Amino acid sequence: MPRLTFRNPHGPGSAALTVDAAAGTSILDAAEGCGARVGHACGGNLACSTCHVYVERGLESLGEISDKENDIMDKAFDVRPESRLGCQAQVSDEDVEVEISDESLKAWLDERPELRKVAR
Ligand code: FES
Repeated sequence: MPRLTFRNPHGPGSAALTVDAAAGTSILDAAEGCGARVGHACGGNLACSTCHVYVERGLESLGEISDKENDIMDKAFDVRPESRLGCQAQVSDEDVEVEISDESLKAWLDERPELRKVAR
């Protein structure tokens, strides 16, 4: 089973978190399952860019990016060649390493204002 590593699961400087992820699992679903802070303002419905992550290893294993994902990515900040939307990118048979974008970490906290003060 491929392994998915979040390099900054709880923000800058946090210890990396690695989980097993069955093929077909989205990066967002894996994050939800392990507590990594990937925002998801639209609930994974490809209507925001708050699940923006950087796939630092295993990018080519995630499959093609769709035109719709590319369109939504235009809304994201600091887009890089390794950018993907966590709700759309699914692991396949290779290990993957992800850095959560600042935008996504902020969105995660925005969705949980009660944690904003204790989460830093
Ligand atoms: S959660 Fe909104 S596009 Fe992924």
